[in-house]
Amino acid sequence: MSAGTLIVGASQAGMQLALSLRDAGERGPITLVGDEPYAPYQRPPLSKCYLQGDISFEQLLLRAQEYLANRDISVLTGELVDWVQLEGEGPSGVALTASGETLSFDKLALTVGASPRRLAVPGANLDGVVYLRTADDAAKLRQLQHEAESVVVVGGGFIGLEAAAVARKQGKTVTLVEATDRLMGRAVAPVVSDFYLDAHARRGVTTRLNAEVVALTGRDTRVQWVELSDGSSLPADLVIIGIGVVPRTELAHQLDLVCDGGIVVDRFARTSNPNVVSAGDCTVQPDWRTGSGKVRLESVQNAINQAKAAASTLAGGVESELPVPWFWSDQFDLKLQIAGLWTGHDYYVVRGFPQRESFSVLYYHDDDLMAVDSVNAPSDYMAVRKALTQGSTIRAEDACDVSVSLRELIRPLSGDIRRRRHRF
Ligand code: APR
Repeated sequence: MSAGTLIVGASQAGMQLALSLRDAGERGPITLVGDEPYAPYQRPPLSKCYLQGDISFEQLLLRAQEYLANRDISVLTGELVDWVQLEGEGPSGVALTASGETLSFDKLALTVGASPRRLAVPGANLDGVVYLRTADDAAKLRQLQHEAESVVVVGGGFIGLEAAAVARKQGKTVTLVEATDRLMGRAVAPVVSDFYLDAHARRGVTTRLNAEVVALTGRDTRVQWVELSDGSSLPADLVIIGIGVVPRTELAHQLDLVCDGGIVVDRFARTSNPNVVSAGDCTVQPDWRTGSGKVRLESVQNAINQAKAAASTLAGGVESELPVPWFWSDQFDLKLQIAGLWTGHDYYVVRGFPQRESFSVLYYHDDDLMAVDSVNAPSDYMAVRKALTQGSTIRAEDACDVSVSLRELIRPLSGDIRRRRHRF
């Protein structure tokens, strides 16, 4: 009997890969194996409505047990794959789990995700110091938050800011500590970082930028203080750490796959060994615009698209495109929506009213529209995403006129820009 396809990592990318592979006509066994004790679930709500207690764990699940059984997809939970080997160059091979299970496979996919970066300071293991990546993390945080009064959040990215918003909404005293000079530096341009700094301040979050945590201290085993390098101490009965993630490349290294800030894949989700595919937060891939470079996209959308490409590759197809990346973050009543990538822009225009907390920032390179960050302006976001997807543009000089919807301003590319845009 065929050993089937082994998908290591049972989260968004792994689940999508299994489903898409079945859709592509795969008849052999498909096994999804994950180290968490649960079937695949959605992570984005963990720092939002799930943390707030608005939805149950069952509502996070991506697919019901019966649905997976009907599609003949096996999910092995609570099993960490810690060793994998190919027969020759593959695609077949064998994997071992930490509990001693042997899993043979004919085809292998790595959808292993990323782990929270650990804060490497004395006291980081004290009770009351938490990370936020898994449903168990969120449940623990929810419990601790209930009892806490002073919350310190370390890291001003999506996770830190979303967790700060939830804590503040629950009436806690919240101080956010960010190492760099601005918030969400990886995801948005400075103009949006500045807006969020003020918006959080208006809602009662104190932010310390350019701040270095040197130690966490406490009484017995429990955290009480966050010590900063300028000598100040912040009182804390709960410390939430969201300082980024590290792709899980251990298995890729065992397989001698090329890694460079993640498992390197092409637009077909093939690793440096074309017999092994990989998808999701663990990968780096070519830029959607240029088809070159190595970009890591930490998003649900990317996990789904790459997983579909990986499934197609495993099924012998060549389906692939690099779609316009998009992201979102909910903080208080502010909905941030991002389409495209702003890195490399040389100017931007602001449309709408930051002071009314509804505006968009459109980014340009050589007069070519690259990306949008929209705050409480979903129609702007949708219009730019549409323009980027269909290879058109919105001229910067038109974009600021709020009396006209952006959708009506979508224009074909000028010959100059069309020549410069390198689609492949
Ligand atoms: N002290 C304070 N801040 C730090 C430190 C530190 N020692 N180290 C890093 N930071 C800051 C970074 O400067 C950055 O602003 O933490 C922030 C981390 O932001 P992200 O890289 O966006 O990571 P995070 O918010 O943890 O999100 C991790 O979860 O929701 C998803 O899309 C999100 O995939 C991302 C992941």
